[in-house]
Amino acid sequence: MTEPGLIDPFGRHIAYLRLSVTDRCDLRCGYCLPKGFKGFAEPDHWLTFEELSRVVSAFTSLGVRHVRITGGEPLVRRNLPDLAARLSALPNLDDLSISSNCTRMASLAVPLRRAGVSRLNVSLDSLRAEVFKQITGGDLRKVLRGIAAAHAAGFAPIRVNTVVMRGVNDDEIETILGFCADNGFTLRLIETMPMGATGQAAQRRYIDLQTVRRRLQRRFKLIPDILPGGGPARYDRVGATETRIGFITPLSRHFCETCNRVRLAADGTLYLCLGQDDRYELRPLLRDGIDDAGLVSHIRRAIALKPQRHELKERPEKIVRFMSTTGG
Ligand code: 5AD
Ligand code: SF4
Repeated sequence: MTEPGLIDPFGRHIAYLRLSVTDRCDLRCGYCLPKGFKGFAEPDHWLTFEELSRVVSAFTSLGVRHVRITGGEPLVRRNLPDLAARLSALPNLDDLSISSNCTRMASLAVPLRRAGVSRLNVSLDSLRAEVFKQITGGDLRKVLRGIAAAHAAGFAPIRVNTVVMRGVNDDEIETILGFCADNGFTLRLIETMPMGATGQAAQRRYIDLQTVRRRLQRRFKLIPDILPGGGPARYDRVGATETRIGFITPLSRHFCETCNRVRLAADGTLYLCLGQDDRYELRPLLRDGIDDAGLVSHIRRAIALKPQRHELKERPEKIVRFMSTTGG
């Protein structure tokens, strides 16, 4: 029998789980991870594929239909397609997606598609190799090859996520939009968030995306649009084209009232809100041999702790964990 769904104290239906499979990453985006960062969770603290599947299965029995695999960078987790195949095989999971920086996508796109991953979000902050290197420490060509491989493997839709930073890439938005339009991708612009010391330092580059939207509006006709499953972004159609651009504005216009998600970190900590510290530890329960019914009731207890909204704007110093703990 299917359990009644997950409703939080503010009446929001939780239907979406973001599953971080590692907090490691092969890039060092300045707003996310400090250079030389080594403070990673120990691998034996990471949930195994078996444990991850059990947690996801408990969530699907509670009405969760969409799981997104995140990191850190999820493709650095060994044998990731095996995990994806296990999750796809769960009877009530309708939608398995992934967020990746695509450095390793060239070799993993086909195995991941075969394992049932259908949708891709890729982080891409610049199309200029030097700027990309400056922001991420990585090689743009490799990422573009990864994106091309994902496109060829049939990931759809592909959404490009760009964190907009004043004086770094804010002059490139039209170029990135053109790249997305040419390839049939959806562009989503993101405001820098004060997550951890790196994210807090990045606030000096913060731009209110409402001003960026006004700038784009002068050049293109932006027509407000609804994208089913579009998440927290507010979308516009670009002129008479099929291209969509989304604005993710946690600071200038938060969207907490429609939040439908929770996040599981690689160590089995369930975070109830990206911008709050409220959490619930699932790993000790799993390792103490809890049964499925017990797991389900603990998840319900956790959801009861979900806060009403984040305070990233009012209390930017509050969150000390890096974004890579939960993968955005
Ligand atoms: N502010 C906004 N977005 C961030 N990301 C990582 N750190 C931050 C931050 N401080 C985003 C990346 C990527 C996803 C993993 O999270 O750009 O899209
Ligand atoms: Fe890695 Fe993503 Fe963080 Fe960049 S934003 S360092 S790609 S986890």
